[in-house]
Amino acid sequence: MKKLIALTMAVLMMLGMFAGCTADQEEAPGKNTYNITTVKEGYLTVVTSPDYAPYEFYALDEAGNPSLAGFDMALAKYIADYLGLTLEVVPMDFNGIMGEMAAGTADLAIAGLSPDPDREDSVDFSDMYYEGKQAFITTKANASKFTDLASTNKSEYQIAAQTGTIQNDLAAQYSPDAQLINLVKATDIIAELVSGKIDGAYVEWDVAVAYSANYPDLQIVCEVPYEAEGNVIGVKKGNADLLKYVNEALNKCVDDGQFAKFVAEALELAAGDNYQGLLGPDGKPTEPSDEE
Ligand code: ARG
Repeated sequence: MKKLIALTMAVLMMLGMFAGCTADQEEAPGKNTYNITTVKEGYLTVVTSPDYAPYEFYALDEAGNPSLAGFDMALAKYIADYLGLTLEVVPMDFNGIMGEMAAGTADLAIAGLSPDPDREDSVDFSDMYYEGKQAFITTKANASKFTDLASTNKSEYQIAAQTGTIQNDLAAQYSPDAQLINLVKATDIIAELVSGKIDGAYVEWDVAVAYSANYPDLQIVCEVPYEAEGNVIGVKKGNADLLKYVNEALNKCVDDGQFAKFVAEALELAAGDNYQGLLGPDGKPTEPSDEE
C-alpha cells in the first residue's frame, strides 16, 4: 500500500514538475558567463530531495505557501548566479537522484550528498563544501538500550535508514543482525521513531540535530564513523568545465564566509514552520506541517 502511495505521489509529482516547467520557462535563460554546456541551454538543472532540513526543505510562509529553503538550495542559487545560469530545481525522492544523474538529465545533484565511491559511475564529485557527519538516533524512551554502536546490533531491534543513502550501508555495517528497514523519506524515519514503530535509525548528524530540536523525544546516541565524510555536489559525469567552475564557485562561497551565512539562515528557517517532502500537484504540502 505504501509503495502504491509512493508511486502515485511520484506520478503526481512528475505531472506537477511538468506544470512547473512550463511556468519556469518564462524565466529567461542566463547569459552563461563561462560558456558551459548544460542539459538545458542557459539553465542550471539541479536535482534535490527536500526532506532534509537544514540541507533542503520547504519553508512555509504565514499562509502556508512553501518555498525551497536550506543551505544546499542557497548554494545552488549562488552557483547558478556565479555561472550566469538560470537555476531550475527538480525535487524528487533521494533514491531517484543517482538514476537521474546517471541518465544525464540534470547538471548537478545537491542533496546532502556523501562522496560514496560507489556513486562515481554516475557523477563526478565536487570539492567538499560541508563537514557532514553521521549519527545513530533513537528516542529518549529507548535511549538506555543503546550505549554505543555495538549495542544496536541485536536481532530484536528494528533499525531504519533512508533508501538509497549511505546510512543504509552504515546500518548494514554496524547493525547487521538487526531488522533493517528502508524508508523513502527522512521524515518517515522520524515519524516511525517518534511513534515507537522502530527502535533507532542512522541519519546525517545535522539532520538528526534539527529533528531533535523540533521533536524533543528524540535523542542522538552517538556519532557513526564513516570514511567518505562530508558533503559534495554530484556533477554530471564528464562535464569537466562544469566541474571546474562549480568548484570555483563553491570554494569562493565557503572561503568568503557566505556559506556560513547560508547555514545560519537554514538553521533558523528549519526551526520555524516548514515542510519536508515532495509537494502535491497543486504545489502545496501533502500533509500538515505540524507532524505531531
Ligand atoms: N548523505 C547521505 C547520502 O549521500 C544522505 C543524503 C540524503 N539526502 C536527502 N536530501 N535526503 O547517502
